[in-house]
Amino acid sequence: MQDPIDNSTLYGRVILDKYSNYYYYYFVTAFVMQCRILDRGSMFVFSNAQFQRLMGVTDPWKVSRLLDLGAGDGKVTSVIEQHFDEVYATEQSPSMRWRLGSRGFKLLDENEWMKVDFKFDIITCLNLLDRCEKPLTMLRDIKHTLQPTTGRLLVAVVLPFRQCVESGTKMTRPKESIHLSGSSWEEQVHSLVKDVFEPSGFTVELFTRVPYLCEGDLFRDFYVLDDALFVLKSSGKNFVKV
Ligand SMILES: C[S@@+](CC[C@H](N)C(=O)[O-])C[C@H]1O[C@@H](n2cnc3c(N)ncnc32)[C@H](O)[C@@H]1O
Repeated sequence: MQDPIDNSTLYGRVILDKYSNYYYYYFVTAFVMQCRILDRGSMFVFSNAQFQRLMGVTDPWKVSRLLDLGAGDGKVTSVIEQHFDEVYATEQSPSMRWRLGSRGFKLLDENEWMKVDFKFDIITCLNLLDRCEKPLTMLRDIKHTLQPTTGRLLVAVVLPFRQCVESGTKMTRPKESIHLSGSSWEEQVHSLVKDVFEPSGFTVELFTRVPYLCEGDLFRDFYVLDDALFVLKSSGKNFVKV
């Protein structure tokens, strides 16, 4: 099954292939503008009702701070924002940062967010571990910025796990590779927990399987992938190099 393609990825790929063709340039620019204006390319991971069920909370539940790492256009973030006094987000794509800013979220630098002088109650890391350069460093940084006992980390991972990082106009390999054992959904979930989350200092509170929906583009109406969604808490143990 094809991966969901965000606007900037598609833009980068086509520009790369057709760099000398001005018609393509204008076509793609118009497409990206259309995505911005029509608000296309959005994702769906969970509803607010599903979030409340996962967290074991009800409508009035509210805590201080959420950090959504790699928040995309912020549609998923906005599903749960009512539960937080302050909503922070990071994003490496300039067009997505533009959208996040227009939604009123507090943008943190993708390389500096771990330096804040406070802790987050909830950190969401949805469909990011396979798309970022240093997923293991990211998990370690999350552990240090999450409230130690009450904090929770929500991680969504598309399985089967395939890492692929967007760097400017290119797709590159990550600096930190994660190798999961097994090929079935269940085996990969087991390996994620034993080989990645636990050595990073987290224990699993619960996990579930959800469809990851992405609004389509010029080529397909929508994309559906298979997400494993975890609620993790700090195990109290320190990061072990994996
Ligand atoms: C597959 S999308 C997921 C978006 C959203 N979290 C969701 O679940 O729908 C991954 C996003 O992470 C962003 N990203 C990749 N590496 C990042 C990093 N190191 N810091 C912040 N954002 C990053 C990409 O630009 C992209 O928008």
